[in-house]
Amino acid sequence: MSGATAVGAPAPGDAGAQPELRPIEVEDISVRFGAVRALADVSFSVAPGTIHAVIGPNGAGKSTMFNVLSGIYKASSGQVRYGDAMLTSMEPHRIANLGIARAFQNIALSGTQTVTENLLLGRHHLTKAGFLSSGLRLPRATREARRHTERVREIATFLDLGDKLDTPVGVLSYGDQKRVEVARALCIEPQVLLLDEPVAGMNADETQRMAEIVLEIRDALGITIVLVEHDMGMVMGIADRVTVLDFGRRIADGTPVEVQADPEVIRAYLGAGDDSGDDAAADSEPPFPSDEERTS
Ligand SMILES: Nc1ncnc2c1ncn2[C@@H]1O[C@H](COP(=O)(O)OP(=O)(O)OP(=O)(O)O)[C@@H](O)[C@H]1O
Ligand SMILES: [Mg+2]
Repeated sequence: MSGATAVGAPAPGDAGAQPELRPIEVEDISVRFGAVRALADVSFSVAPGTIHAVIGPNGAGKSTMFNVLSGIYKASSGQVRYGDAMLTSMEPHRIANLGIARAFQNIALSGTQTVTENLLLGRHHLTKAGFLSSGLRLPRATREARRHTERVREIATFLDLGDKLDTPVGVLSYGDQKRVEVARALCIEPQVLLLDEPVAGMNADETQRMAEIVLEIRDALGITIVLVEHDMGMVMGIADRVTVLDFGRRIADGTPVEVQADPEVIRAYLGAGDDSGDDAAADSEPPFPSDEERTS
């Protein structure tokens, strides 16, 4: 892995120190927006410690699913369980408090604040010393502040941002800002990381690097990653399992190799949109890049 500094589990005493091995079970989720059925009885399971991608053509329901997982949208029917916790009946902040962190597709950072300041905001809920003792600079608060700053530095370095800690986020390149967004989510020491199109708008090098980082997040931190992504090359290269949506329905679920070979997936991506049974779609250029294309 190029250039990354190892990032271990957080220090003992930090909330969420050890990722818990809880699966996410999505069961028969439907979401309606008026007449539009954005999701129709979608089920899949996310095994702990894996990278699970949710893919599909435009309008397939990916973002809607993401918003159900993070509690922003309420499902019309069905449920999502995280171990014993019923996510579908929880408000977004309670889901976040369970250690399910979300990195936003559209960067939600303060541009005038430095990388360190933005990342420290991500640790606010882990701060035990109250505002009063922090304000008075009591020893415990000072120690705690130092510990958080060290952890922020560790996480930033892991995301190739170690030399940008004092830079205002607003002047960073787009790729750097996307990595700050992921770092901010990691700063809450999550058990589960929800990534919404983490490489959207990135160039090939930045995409490659983000793919490596996502793999390292899984391997070094042992956390579960749910990835909604358009970039098929990235998804097929790193996902352990892929759920494919099309028009709100689950049309495939399996390993990258399995779903790439699935005729219905190929048809959905090529937009053939007919059930005539002829194999025009299958004979065409596959919609998924080869390994060579992916790495070039
Ligand atoms: N807030 C909303 N109000 C009304 N309709 C919505 C809303 N959000 C999504 N939809 C509709 O639900 C369907 C699924 O949309 P969604 O955004 O989940 O798709 P997507 O897979 O994320 O697409 P894209 O790849 O374009 O981001 C679409 O038909 C969309 O127009
Ligand atoms: Mg979307």
